[in-house]
Amino acid sequence: MTIAAIRWDETIGSDGRGGIRLLDQTLLPGQAVDREITTTDGLVTAIQELAVRGAPALGVAGAMGVALAMDEGARRGWSPAQVQAAVERVRLARPTAVNLAWGVDQVRPLMPQGRVVVLSAAHRVAAANEAANRELSRLGADWLLARIDRPRLRAITHCNTGALATAAWGTGFGVLCELHERGRLEIVYADETRPLLQGSRLTAYELADAGIDHVVQADGAAASTILRGLVDVAVVGADRIAGNGDVANKIGTLGVALACADAGIPFMVAAPWSTVDLATAHGGDIEIELRSEDEVTHVAGALVAPQGSRGFNPAFDVTPARLVSAIATERGVLEASLGQVPRDVS
Ligand code: MRU
Repeated sequence: MTIAAIRWDETIGSDGRGGIRLLDQTLLPGQAVDREITTTDGLVTAIQELAVRGAPALGVAGAMGVALAMDEGARRGWSPAQVQAAVERVRLARPTAVNLAWGVDQVRPLMPQGRVVVLSAAHRVAAANEAANRELSRLGADWLLARIDRPRLRAITHCNTGALATAAWGTGFGVLCELHERGRLEIVYADETRPLLQGSRLTAYELADAGIDHVVQADGAAASTILRGLVDVAVVGADRIAGNGDVANKIGTLGVALACADAGIPFMVAAPWSTVDLATAHGGDIEIELRSEDEVTHVAGALVAPQGSRGFNPAFDVTPARLVSAIATERGVLEASLGQVPRDVS
């Protein structure tokens, strides 16, 4: 099955301009239902509800969102300032994954050249992400196989980093698929990834689809799985990588990294270069999205805490560079603990 998290669909809407077709990830794995998006408010809602999510997919959403705002502006007779305000709402819809703002910024300067030019640039953002993911996966797998002396690797992953989270193929998930295709992957332990269960709902869905042997485990099992020697490596994605190599990723990633450091196994981050944010010097400067308390105090709409207990729901954490063994990008594999991310890696 080819999973398309996000694409421009010319057939959406009645004015021939089309719109964004999203696979609504809030409904997976039970239902595979698309959302058709023709307004920037609809896109902002889809981003905030995590109907579309994952840093590289958000980059594509940002780029396509610019074309969407131009089309909506033409339909509704918006002034240029109103169109720019709509673009800005998309750009700021979620704060942590740098790719969203990056995707907007890739195409926004082209707005004076018209929506056709903007839309083709957005398509290029998507195509470039797929190419980057395939290359970083190949490089990441090479790096791991050169360092871990086992015929087939046992891996742990956290959150979802596959095609659902990207334009195609995946980042951390892409590394796992690359190992699988080389016959060098034994099993994946997928953390369920509370509170919104991207691991059990989405990663397990993609692992099953790829024919990769896997188990889903509670997030609280991760450290024990690692220290019991059940895995050889952790492979995760990233939402933003600061200039010093600190990595923001889904809440719970930091605990996985700490356990890997204690067990002495590699903790690999896989991300396209668009996730590297050299303008942010340290992880401490990364804005961490704080989401609704209800996502923690409720499961599938049912209250699972005493009435009145408050929830604390940071969506991401920051893993210090010293705990990161390697960052696999399409430009090369960086050993982040060596210090500053190089500005020009080729
Ligand atoms: O809140 P989400 O589901 O958007 O969080 C996604 C993650 O944390 C992913 O690990 C990250 O974006 C990398 S996706 C290739």
